[in-house]
Amino acid sequence: MTEPVPFTDVYVDDDIVERVGDVLEGKRWVKGPETEAFEDEFAAECGVDHAVGVNSGTAALLLAMKAVGVGEGDTVLVPAHTFFATVSPALELGAEPVFVDADPDTYGMDPDDLARKAEGRDVTAVVPVHLYGQPTAMGEIRAVADEHDAAVVEDACQAHFATYDGDAAGSLGDVGCFSFYPSKNMTVGGDGGMLVTDDDDLAAAARELRNHGRNPEGEHVRLGLNWRLDEIKAAVGREQLGHIHEWNAGRREAAGWYEARLADVDEVETPVVRDDAEHVYHLYVVQVPDRDALREKLESKDIGTGIHYATPAHRHEAVAPYVDEANADAPEAERLVDRILSLPMHPRITEAEVERVCDVVEAHYADAEGTEPTEPVPDGGER
Ligand SMILES: Cc1ncc(COP(=O)(O)O)c(C=O)c1O
Repeated sequence: MTEPVPFTDVYVDDDIVERVGDVLEGKRWVKGPETEAFEDEFAAECGVDHAVGVNSGTAALLLAMKAVGVGEGDTVLVPAHTFFATVSPALELGAEPVFVDADPDTYGMDPDDLARKAEGRDVTAVVPVHLYGQPTAMGEIRAVADEHDAAVVEDACQAHFATYDGDAAGSLGDVGCFSFYPSKNMTVGGDGGMLVTDDDDLAAAARELRNHGRNPEGEHVRLGLNWRLDEIKAAVGREQLGHIHEWNAGRREAAGWYEARLADVDEVETPVVRDDAEHVYHLYVVQVPDRDALREKLESKDIGTGIHYATPAHRHEAVAPYVDEANADAPEAERLVDRILSLPMHPRITEAEVERVCDVVEAHYADAEGTEPTEPVPDGGER
């Protein structure tokens, strides 16, 4: 019996359990020193002046957009290929989304399509995503945003400490947003998020917004709700932060094992890594012509897989009222969703597990060679 290969894995150790116990016993469960320390440590790792802990990546995106001034009727340029939460906060604020097509190599926003879609529009914010753990084309994206005097809110929810030209994802725009959902490169042991920025005013606004709009003097100076991070989660986050670089290195090593085995399988397109980027492989996504058949084969051998994502952002029912030909023309995103497959990836995956996945992929396409697609019957011909 071969062992299953899980798609992902979460990490708990005695230190984490002990820290959680300490916070519980200390009875300071919100607005305390763990959150403050986690924010300081995360900001330092990211190379930014401020980090603001919140209770999800979605909350970080919502507060970031609110803080940069996105409101009713404003135009926000969002990716057509991403997790829904890159887009939904803008809609929650009453903004009008314009969907930018995906770059076929790196899956981020295509900067040329961004420039086309921004043309002639009054753009309030651009929301690039560093999908699967690779920083997107931030130089080009920033240039378009600057030309339109628009804010850049980075969705770095999948890219903890990936770098672009040596700088951390999330530190490249006006505000960066992270998720600590359990499957992410680092977690807080549940839902959580972080907003980072160098801008003092944006940081102060985010701190107020997450806490009922209260300023440090205790006055409610703007409308906000409760989006705070709990102390227990901050304590878990601090422990996880201590491992993140080693874990990202583990993911990169695993990606190297996949690349070495799959680069020669003609049907499989392995990830393309930008020269100026360091990928952190939140997900290891390949493109194949027969995604569902390959997925079924892998699952039949107890190998976990995923599809990130099966539907372009502008095709979800919830956004139907906001979509028209002019704001959602994204052919590359439509093409990708049928081809992408996420293979098992986490920092502790073994070389033997990656070999097992690759054996199944290779065998699948070796078998396929004997079963060429039937030649179409020529016009007018009969057999
Ligand atoms: C790209 C992206 N954006 C936003 C989010 C939202 O984060 P959360 O689930 O913490 O709200 C996630 C994670 O789920 C994500 O992967």
